[in-house]
Amino acid sequence: MLSIEDNELLTRTNAGTPMGNFIRRYWVPALLSEEIPEPDCPPVRVSLMGEQLVGFRGSDGAIGLLGERCAHRGTSLFYGRNEECGLRCIYHGWKYDSEGNVTDTPAEPARSDFHKKLHHTAYPTHEANGVVYAYLGPREKRPLFPNYEWTQVPLDQTYVTKCLMECNYLQGLEGECDSSHLSFLHRAFSNERNQAWYKSDGAPVYETEETDFGVRLIAIRSAPENQQYIRFSALVLPVYGCVPAGRATNELDGFEIHTYVPADDTHTWRYDIGFRRSRAVSENEVHRRKQIGPDYLRIRNARNNYLQDRRMQKTVNFTGIEDFLNHDACATESMGAIFDRSREHLGVSDKAVIAVRKHLLNAVNALANGQEPPHIIFDAQQNWFPHIDCFAYLLAHDTNWKQQFDYLTDAATKENPAAHSVSNACTPSASA
Ligand code: FES
Ligand SMILES: [Fe+2]
Repeated sequence: MLSIEDNELLTRTNAGTPMGNFIRRYWVPALLSEEIPEPDCPPVRVSLMGEQLVGFRGSDGAIGLLGERCAHRGTSLFYGRNEECGLRCIYHGWKYDSEGNVTDTPAEPARSDFHKKLHHTAYPTHEANGVVYAYLGPREKRPLFPNYEWTQVPLDQTYVTKCLMECNYLQGLEGECDSSHLSFLHRAFSNERNQAWYKSDGAPVYETEETDFGVRLIAIRSAPENQQYIRFSALVLPVYGCVPAGRATNELDGFEIHTYVPADDTHTWRYDIGFRRSRAVSENEVHRRKQIGPDYLRIRNARNNYLQDRRMQKTVNFTGIEDFLNHDACATESMGAIFDRSREHLGVSDKAVIAVRKHLLNAVNALANGQEPPHIIFDAQQNWFPHIDCFAYLLAHDTNWKQQFDYLTDAATKENPAAHSVSNACTPSASA
């Protein structure tokens, strides 16, 4: 459990809160590219960590992410005219460029330079593989955009979905760090994909490792024929849950990154990004797209009880609900908007969740005490991450995973960087 104070510390992310300050020091998803598909297209609203923003793509392709309220007298820029490299307010015509400069105030006298004294809220953006990322922290602290593998592979080797979760971000993020729920929440009564291994052992043993990027999470299940089924997941700071979702056992060809960006304290944007290292992705691999409406709301939600089917619950799967995305949503949203973790009862199966909370609490408190956050990249030589990898693997029960996958360890990567690259990151050191 957490104290009420620590629960507040971890879950509140508006401007000026410790966790809000922390997440703002990293690049996080803000929009999908498809929301602003072409120059001068309609702007879109987006809420991030309690801030109401408007995103637009100008005539020159530059993406702006501006405070929604016009600096003049507050009319929403969502209704503005996106024209000639700027967004123009419909009330009195003030115009903003993507940097937040006020470039025109046509209702003011022609000689007025009033607008030059103004600067509107505007956040830097970076577009990569269908996602528009934003940095909402102090300008002078802006880090490099991290060259994660999923932002670097060709576009057709990636996919992404976005949906709104109606609860605090931490409930979703903790679900990504909790391998034991695979054996229950996501159980199907057939033995498709990895189901046999989830069922082989409902009480996995966890190892957790503090790393430079966050926490590596290893769940080890005993499996038939003297084997062990090992799932490698990771918390990548600040809100990226990396998991081998949708990947067959022993498949080392990319993974998924489930990202929980607070919209406000009781709503969260979940971005599921996936990538393949070796091949293009086919549309039918992105099955969860069918679960999300054009407004990025899930079709199965709390208002319709996730369309739970009690007959299906007896015959098809553990929940009677379709798709992993909705299982996760039902489990985490039904805790309430912000779960009070002083009321929970943690067991051995929560070891990884505890490790993640501890890591986040330490990092947030350190920032509040003046220390710089971890995993903030300023040096281009350090901007590569071959040791962030997630997969599920069957090994003989007496095999040590650290020897088998030595590229995962920070020490190996740092000692011999030339030996590791994105292209060989998926190759274990010895054949399994
Ligand atoms: S309120 Fe926007 S220009 Fe006046
Ligand atoms: Fe899940």
